[in-house]
Amino acid sequence: ASYDMGGHDTYMHKEISEQADAVDRVLRGRIDDKFSTVHLGGLNLDAREARGIRRVKILGCGTSYHAGMIGAGLIEGMARIPADAEPASEFRYRNPVVDPDTLYIAVSQSGETYDVLAAVQELKRKGARVLGVVNVVGSAIAREADGGVYVHAGPEVCVVSTKCFTNTVVAFALLALHLGRIRDLSVADGKRIIEGLRRLPDQISEILKLEDEIKELAAEYAGAKSMMFIGRVRGYPVALEASLKLKEISYIHAEAYPASELKHGPLALIEPALPTVAIVPNDSLLEKNRAALEEIKARSGRILAVAHQEQEKADHTIVVPKNEDELDPILMGIPLQLFAYHTALAMGRDIDKPRNLAKSVTVE
Ligand code: G6P
Repeated sequence: ASYDMGGHDTYMHKEISEQADAVDRVLRGRIDDKFSTVHLGGLNLDAREARGIRRVKILGCGTSYHAGMIGAGLIEGMARIPADAEPASEFRYRNPVVDPDTLYIAVSQSGETYDVLAAVQELKRKGARVLGVVNVVGSAIAREADGGVYVHAGPEVCVVSTKCFTNTVVAFALLALHLGRIRDLSVADGKRIIEGLRRLPDQISEILKLEDEIKELAAEYAGAKSMMFIGRVRGYPVALEASLKLKEISYIHAEAYPASELKHGPLALIEPALPTVAIVPNDSLLEKNRAALEEIKARSGRILAVAHQEQEKADHTIVVPKNEDELDPILMGIPLQLFAYHTALAMGRDIDKPRNLAKSVTVE
């Protein structure tokens, strides 16, 4: 696929810049203010069936797997159904127990990733119910699934996913709200989430205005050989995705850890040459996250925080607007897309086509 870059130097930059409009599109026509819920026309799941779900298992690869991890947290949090995400290929090869009361959800930008498609086919063969959270309309996974939610991110050309990741997480928020309102999520909470969703496009535009600041930070960190990304609970998949983005386009080694796991090993790596990027939302875990920053500072580690207010222990803080706690992960990843982008640009990388990678992997 190729289409106009619209004045941007790379598709990645174009796609990062389009995110406010993209989020607007995934929300459009789906919000029901009367009942504080959302309508998802293609779900193919009635209220009685939705009440019978006992577990949710989300399957995807790469960035879509990370979006699915955040999605699992949203579903478990809002609908109170145990939910987790797993790489589709791992699931397929471990001969999983396929349970009729589990709702399976396949996540894919392209809708053509072989590992995901094969997992869906195997699940269907065993009589499971499978939904798709897919971007490309009419793609193989969308056709194979029993129903689903289209992500409506629009065409994504850059090999690494940015706007589709964001929209996929928003699609999961819609699904979580829908399932939650059928089950035990209150009208008041439904309303609170809807208001939060409506704030996202403007808040994304605010974050994109930080680009010059982020570009300067990226120039400082571009010399690092390796970077650590940390987050806790909702922040952990954000850290995973940010580290993947940096690896993919800059070729800087990066790894992500739950902040709480630092003391169980990775703290041994911390020294001035290994910078840490920390996701530090203003939520009930703020003090815990601050304690992790102190641990790192005590070992002379450099820290770049993404937070809702300046972090005293960090060398730099990228301050992003606060939304509802559940929706904060959607916003906190966006500055780190720009961080990966400008780091890779400073290093002269081929951003839209990183070495050894393909936009969609349609073979085993
Ligand atoms: C490839 C791409 C990744 C992408 C993954 C899953 O590995 O390089 O950026 O996240 O496939 O793609 P999908 O289209 O299924 O989301």
